[in-house]
Amino acid sequence: MIPTVDPYPTYRALREQHPVCWDGDLDAFLVSSYAGASAVLRGPGWSSDPNRNPALAARFDRAELGTQALGTTLLTMDPPDHTRLRRLLTPPFTPRAIDALHARITAVVKAALADLGSAGEVDVIAEIGYPIPLAVMCELLDVDIEGAQLLRTETPKLVGMLEFDPDEEAVLAAEEATASLALHLLPILGDRRRRPGEDLASQLLGLGDDDGDALALDEVLATTILLLTAGHETTASLIGNGVLTLMEHPDQLQLLQRDPTLIKPAIEEILRFECPAKIVGRSNLIDRQLGGHTIRAGQRVLVLLGAVNRDPEQFRDPECFDITRTPAPHLAFGAGPHFCLGAALSRAEAQETLRQLLPLLTEWRLAPEAPAWRVSDSFRALDNLHLVSA
Ligand code: HEM
Repeated sequence: MIPTVDPYPTYRALREQHPVCWDGDLDAFLVSSYAGASAVLRGPGWSSDPNRNPALAARFDRAELGTQALGTTLLTMDPPDHTRLRRLLTPPFTPRAIDALHARITAVVKAALADLGSAGEVDVIAEIGYPIPLAVMCELLDVDIEGAQLLRTETPKLVGMLEFDPDEEAVLAAEEATASLALHLLPILGDRRRRPGEDLASQLLGLGDDDGDALALDEVLATTILLLTAGHETTASLIGNGVLTLMEHPDQLQLLQRDPTLIKPAIEEILRFECPAKIVGRSNLIDRQLGGHTIRAGQRVLVLLGAVNRDPEQFRDPECFDITRTPAPHLAFGAGPHFCLGAALSRAEAQETLRQLLPLLTEWRLAPEAPAWRVSDSFRALDNLHLVSA
């Protein structure tokens, strides 16, 4: 069992004593070293398709619209289907394409921060972390007010799909949310197909390659829902984890306030130090040796990203939070063919949020009650983070 509030001593013990080990409760091998993680995420013979693992296949075999929709997205596909979809989807998410959105992201962050502080207390998660990625997505998809409202109420429920072992209620809520988003988004996508605009949905519908391959309507729908699912919780956590870590390391916060050009390396260090996605799973396709263990085809491997990102074989003084650390090649966004599609977008959102928040942070301090870390196998996330006027 890995503790919720401070998992790092356990991660460290695992990495030092059993960098690959079998966990009977999770029915999977745990990998906690950087080298082991790299071998799994970048190497051949590993699958992201739940159907390649008997236990996972049962979970995805409910034939419910929600699970079905997410069962056919990038996250759960292998080559050649993954290669094709990933190639088609890449253009709107390249760092260059995201750079072009800078002014729009800046405006969304400015609007979100405009009303802060009037009550003398702020919950960074509820008032900044969640609203900003969602507002950016509404802006990018160009949904109307009704659509934005629906996204706001339904998107948080989607996260149940990404939990390692969600309870029945969470799965049901995620499936219902997927269905209601699909019902709302489908006519919008149909309309954008007939009358394309400048928005992301129109762009996705128009994506194609020189061989005439293009995304089908159902692929655009599944992708749009995946972007809302994969992008929301994780970016909210990055913002929350970042604010908390900086408040807990005032020397680093002051350094950043003196020199805001350090924002990019600061976000990379936050990603390394308090990595929002805790695990990445793969099913093994061939009998093999890893870290002294025999892993059979069909068995599951879970990479513990929080442990990997503090591996001293890879990072000098890894338990130290140092925003000047360069290079910091963390695995917070995964690696290899499934490397996070939204990495540039979430970096841009987090950098801009922190840039605009920095001057405000001098006016706030952590509230006396401890912030609440979520009990979750999948996410290193705060449920709330209260700041009060200094
Ligand atoms: C701090 C924020 C984020 C973190 C820590 C994060 C983390 C990750 C990780 C670890 C993976 C790899 C999963 C695997 O290998 O199985 C991944 C994949 C993915 N992420 Fe993110 N993510 C973030 C933000 C976003 C955003 C903002 C979006 C989109 C708007 C997004 C969309 C995706 C998609 C579509 C994939 C699947 C890529 C593929 O399978 O080819 N993510 N993310």
